[in-house]
Amino acid sequence: MAFYIPEEKISEIQNVADITDIVSESVLLKKAGKNHIGLCPFHSEKTPSFTVNPEKQIFHCFGCGAGGNVISFVMKHDGVSFPEAVQSLAKRFNIELPTRDMSLAEQKAMGEREQILEVNQHAMKFYQNMLFQEFSGKPGLQYLTERGITKNTLEKFYIGYVPDGWNNLVQHLARKRISRNVMIKSGLVIENNQKTGYYDRFRNRIIFPIFSTGNQVIGFGGRVLDDSLPKYLNSPETLVYSKSSSLYGLHIAKPECRKTGTAFIVEGYMDLLALWQYGIHNAVATLGTSLTSEHVRILRGHCGHSGKVILVYDSDEAGLKAAARSIEIFDKEHLDAAIMVLPNGHDPDSYLFEYGEAEFRGMVKHALSAMDFLMESAVLKHGMSVEGKVRTVAIMKDYLANASDHVLRSLYIKKLAEKLNIDDSAIMEKVREAIQKKRTGNDRAGIIYGKNQQSTSRNEAGILFEYDRMEKKIIAMMVQYPEILPEICKQNILSCFENKVLAKIGVLILEQHEKGNRSVSSLIVRVNNPEQEKFIASLAIENSKWNHAGCLKLIKQFVLSKNKRNHDLLMRIKTAEAQNDDKLLIALMEQLRDQKKIQKKRESAGGKTL
Ligand code: CTP
Ligand code: MN
Repeated sequence: MAFYIPEEKISEIQNVADITDIVSESVLLKKAGKNHIGLCPFHSEKTPSFTVNPEKQIFHCFGCGAGGNVISFVMKHDGVSFPEAVQSLAKRFNIELPTRDMSLAEQKAMGEREQILEVNQHAMKFYQNMLFQEFSGKPGLQYLTERGITKNTLEKFYIGYVPDGWNNLVQHLARKRISRNVMIKSGLVIENNQKTGYYDRFRNRIIFPIFSTGNQVIGFGGRVLDDSLPKYLNSPETLVYSKSSSLYGLHIAKPECRKTGTAFIVEGYMDLLALWQYGIHNAVATLGTSLTSEHVRILRGHCGHSGKVILVYDSDEAGLKAAARSIEIFDKEHLDAAIMVLPNGHDPDSYLFEYGEAEFRGMVKHALSAMDFLMESAVLKHGMSVEGKVRTVAIMKDYLANASDHVLRSLYIKKLAEKLNIDDSAIMEKVREAIQKKRTGNDRAGIIYGKNQQSTSRNEAGILFEYDRMEKKIIAMMVQYPEILPEICKQNILSCFENKVLAKIGVLILEQHEKGNRSVSSLIVRVNNPEQEKFIASLAIENSKWNHAGCLKLIKQFVLSKNKRNHDLLMRIKTAEAQNDDKLLIALMEQLRDQKKIQKKRESAGGKTL
């Protein structure tokens, strides 16, 4: 992005945007001593290792190593750049960032994400205005009214309409001086095959804007007013819209999910609106894609890991299949799920409009656990013939083998036996076989996993794992016990560092300290490198166990080790001379020269002689 953000504005944002508040918007945190802990939003886990320290205003995940300050969190969580994260925080806390009218060149340079978000915002307003236009909006408003949607709901969800026509939106965006290129990147405008013309993606449709949890319009869905096909059309994937991580309605459902620890998941736009209108405010919709691990992780962030999700799927074949698939994902992501099966032919929308909220809530009480649901649908599908029963057992044995709770497993085995009217030992036998098979499979998977793990740590090695152990310890000390910084300065310790990255971090710590910016969070802003941010956060999250004497001892040890290195070098040079190994000799002499340079620097700065 083209504009400059003054440093004092960044500090101001760090002062007002409390990391615990910001993280809490998407992760359920619990207090644990000085820290708050929760389930990491950046990897799949069962026990919380994601840690926020309000005092230092940093976060660190002991599981995956993610870490940083409030700005890094927003960057990683929302997948945005540094200036974008700063901007969005500034907006939320009413901090004015200096802006001015942008020149054409600057406009070009403005981040593409922002450009798309801007187009989406224009489009949303345009579609919404259209819906309420006396003439052109009439068919849309009439359709929605006939489906029972109230004005209040329309406004809450910014629902709109676009009349028939190839360029209603194109013209509107052109009047707003949006370039063709950006229109196309937003996915709202399509270029024809000959690349000679442009036209609106959405024509003669009801428009449902899709929001991010930060309340930005990231995409749209559009429904026809009659039986023509396709019934629904959605924005394509763009820089700001990804189907697999967006949930319709979550921006509104967030607080209620938190309060109740539960969320309803429905399949469609209209279903979600119906739930909301009937007072069920903790619901989201997946919008024509199957549920993904990302969806579940996001929901878990809002409901907590002891939270619960209730799937309300259509009772048609496709709905049942989708529910069965979703159960596996919930299982993998360790979130408790129940399935609510509506009477044949109903979806949540039609059910609510026919029977009302009380009946619906009554149905919730009868929601089936995942295992019961799988059992019911298998029996329903394969029937009670001998072959049918064999099939049902064959399907259920794998699910039962996966159950992590042994007591629950044996209860379900009994239940299934009763249901099929067969002996439970037969089922038990099959389940045992499945468990056995799973184990050997897992062993194999374990080896592959181990390999992968090694290769990722090797990727990061250059930055984190090959740090000189002692140099790393000194940096940790500097972060955790700033009282020692004057001594580090006086002895010019950093000039002996061999690891350039660590030396740079050390210098930054000293600089920041001198400037009076003593917080870890502002140090993180300065390093401006994700790997190093993570590294610093991981050091800072540890409790300081330093005292002055201990620090001095470490410094002394470090100086001695450098001295010893120097001595070793001289010995090796002597040997190389004796052996007439010129190549080695030259290499060693070069090392010695470097060491001497460092030594000189230290001496001139008043440090002790090595
Ligand atoms: N969907 C889609 N594309 C389609 C059909 C469906 O993206 N061609 C998505 C939409 O998000 C839709 C959801 O899948 O809301 C569920 O589809 P369906 O059950 O067919 O529609 P309903 O939500 O029942 O829509 P309506 O009540 O308006 O007919
Ligand atoms: Mn419907």
